[in-house]
Amino acid sequence: MQVASSIDDVIAEAANVHAHPLWKAPHARVAAPNPRSLAHCWSYRQLRSLLVRAGELISAEEADRRVFMMINPGSEPPCTTETIAAAYQLILPGECAPAHRHTPFALRFIVEGTGAFTAVNGEKVWMEPGDLILTPSWAFHDHGKEGAGPMLWVDGLDVPLMSYLRIQFFEEWKEARFPSLEIGGASNLRYPWAEMEQRLRDEPGAYALVPYLQRVGGQAISRTMGAYAERIDAGTSSPARQSTVSHVYVVRSGRGRTHVGSTVLEWEPGDTFAIPTWQAFHHEALDGTAYLFAMHDRPLIDALGYYQEQRPAR
Ligand SMILES: [Fe+2]
Repeated sequence: MQVASSIDDVIAEAANVHAHPLWKAPHARVAAPNPRSLAHCWSYRQLRSLLVRAGELISAEEADRRVFMMINPGSEPPCTTETIAAAYQLILPGECAPAHRHTPFALRFIVEGTGAFTAVNGEKVWMEPGDLILTPSWAFHDHGKEGAGPMLWVDGLDVPLMSYLRIQFFEEWKEARFPSLEIGGASNLRYPWAEMEQRLRDEPGAYALVPYLQRVGGQAISRTMGAYAERIDAGTSSPARQSTVSHVYVVRSGRGRTHVGSTVLEWEPGDTFAIPTWQAFHHEALDGTAYLFAMHDRPLIDALGYYQEQRPAR
């Protein structure tokens, strides 16, 4: 029988057969959530300028999607948080972002412009600033733009989760456009800002939070991602929160700042900011009433049974 000369020898031999000692594994005893992502804000002014310059140099057709992903400085592509990939997208008049489908769920929150549409599985919906548009898993979709001026929005997808699991499917449609029609009446794919703002205004108090739920059936907007909007009246703060949910916010209107632990994120209209899981945070509206859109991973975390929250110290 071979006698090991030292534990280091055993560990070295273990490595040769693709085994590793748990007592040397730092992830074995993580006492509390430890996201790699950092609290971070992306300036719309900066990203818009880059996209407009890109728009002069590459067409939406060439690029497939003319998009700048927001890569968390603590993580790597495609992560904006551990579970959410967010990106700014630009489409110009007459362009078509060609039809495709993928198993990751996608949402869009419209930031600027008019006259653009998304077609999802044959249903064409027009997009206006502040609207939320849903693209369910495995639904063919394309985007087009009519009329003058650029159209910009923030995409949000559950791609980091899919990348980790490596179970994604993707397929292009045989033509640039998937056949689509406008369907009259309220769509289960489009949630206009005017509706949401009215609901937020109808809530009492200086702070309100209203979730987006599917118009048909009333469930969360997807199995992995949810969304809500918040109103924070001028000169006031939102309650502080801390949970095992990560968020990506888009500023609909107003100026303010968000305190995330000891980090302060300053924001203005169109900006996007990431709040990793288990960070205590609250918002402050500084200049007029602030309206914020938030996408988050609560449906995923709930489905797994891993939701936890605590009252943060302020
Ligand atoms: Fe897509």
